[in-house]
Amino acid sequence: MKVKLEKLTKRFPTRGNKNEEVIAVNEFDFEIPDGKLIGLLGPSGCGKSTTLFMLSGLQKPTSGKIYFGDEDVTGLAPEKRGVGLVFQNYALYPHMTVKQNIMFPLQNQHLPKQEIIERTNQVAQLVQIDDLLDRKPSELSGGQQQRVAIARALVKQPRVLLLDEPLSNLDARLRLQTREEIRRIQRKTNVTTIFVTHDQEEAMSISDLIVVMKKGVIQQIDVPQKVYDNPVNLFVSKFLGTPPINVFQGRIEKNNLYIGNDKVMKFKADDQEVYVGIRPEGFVLDPKGGLKCQLKNVEVMGRDSSIVSTHEAAESPIIRSIIDSDLAVKPDENGEVRFSVRPNKIFVFAKGYAGVRGDLVLNKETKDVFCYEDERSGWKKIGNASVNESVEVKNGVMKVKTGAPANEDASMILNSETKEIFVRDNEEYKLFGTLNLAENKEWKEEINFSVLEKDPVLPEIRIYPDNGGKE
Ligand SMILES: Nc1ncnc2c1ncn2[C@@H]1O[C@H](COP(=O)(O)OP(=O)(O)O)[C@@H](O)[C@H]1O
Ligand SMILES: [Mg+2]
Repeated sequence: MKVKLEKLTKRFPTRGNKNEEVIAVNEFDFEIPDGKLIGLLGPSGCGKSTTLFMLSGLQKPTSGKIYFGDEDVTGLAPEKRGVGLVFQNYALYPHMTVKQNIMFPLQNQHLPKQEIIERTNQVAQLVQIDDLLDRKPSELSGGQQQRVAIARALVKQPRVLLLDEPLSNLDARLRLQTREEIRRIQRKTNVTTIFVTHDQEEAMSISDLIVVMKKGVIQQIDVPQKVYDNPVNLFVSKFLGTPPINVFQGRIEKNNLYIGNDKVMKFKADDQEVYVGIRPEGFVLDPKGGLKCQLKNVEVMGRDSSIVSTHEAAESPIIRSIIDSDLAVKPDENGEVRFSVRPNKIFVFAKGYAGVRGDLVLNKETKDVFCYEDERSGWKKIGNASVNESVEVKNGVMKVKTGAPANEDASMILNSETKEIFVRDNEEYKLFGTLNLAENKEWKEEINFSVLEKDPVLPEIRIYPDNGGKE
């Protein structure tokens, strides 16, 4: 069964403050091909469970649609959707045997007894618990209990199987084993499966496609290896990979990429401050390499060695690089090792400008005005300002009023009726200009107002060199 989400959104009112709300899931748009296993991956609180709850019908979306195949199931009751649900905490009936637990959903459907028995035995075999059917849940290990929960979800022959962190309660060894098991069962049954986890390794290892989420917003959807090889932003690059990516403060200057004072490689792009991420396997020991790190330790781990070093521009106290353990690591007389970097393992990200909903940015040159929408939409151009060049305007907080300023105490005032901006110049306010808006806007009482030399870009988005990385 193909599953499609269309601008699926869920907002919750926040406790205490009725005017504020959490956007748990923000305009999810994606399509899950029939018979695939999708990993929904993201940190705690990013909206994974809410997405599953909406798919299952247990929660109603605020807006947007869900399709199973061509059928719009958005308003359909949970029991009519044909979904199987498995949670972290198994949720088996403790007073029933394994067999009774599995049969329970079928008995509820009032199926013929013979069919119930056949399907129960089939699914027990598939999940490999046929020798446990007469036990009670308390007589099973965590891994076995989770298999029973999966069997109970599958026995209904669901159109879609939803698994919410199904491995979280298992110990490390069982987690590994059970995730292979889930993959095997999914392949065998071919049921479209959505698997929620905050564990990147788990998602990478069993998913056909992963959806990386952050604060209710989809960051990237692709096959696991592509997300690893081509992260669209700093968040995604940091979220995938063990050991994690090494992040540095860097800059682009005259088409060269610098980390601290080290010239690392050619990089054709506008001069700017950037973040640089280098995967641990991206470092190459090279006496002529541009990146100079202070060697701290070499940990030999069989085939590979892990070089532990430091660099003043690194975001974390240590840098971890993985090299072939046959290579000798020889620091110079200053204790430094030099690296060159594999071009496909180094990612450059814009510093950009984060905002709070409603913040304004003025491009000083073009006089275009941008407003921050939300994490998903970022900065949206809302109009242009006709300005009085003789009044200098600086970054600041702008107060919103209906009238012109008298003796206010703010660096800037926006007259919300006339859309005139006044800038404080010593003791008086001078008219800086008028906002020409493409649409009507409701203003908050205060707006952060920033003045830039260029258009605002969202922070931490990947920058690619103009020449595609070739010299
Ligand atoms: N019933 C609810 N009422 C209010 N806020 C909620 C509710 N359920 C979830 N949230 C909020 O929505 C966001 C996403 O939650 P959730 O989907 O449970 O995240 P995840 O499963 O990724 O950890 C969180 O900020 C959470 O606090
Ligand atoms: Mg959750």
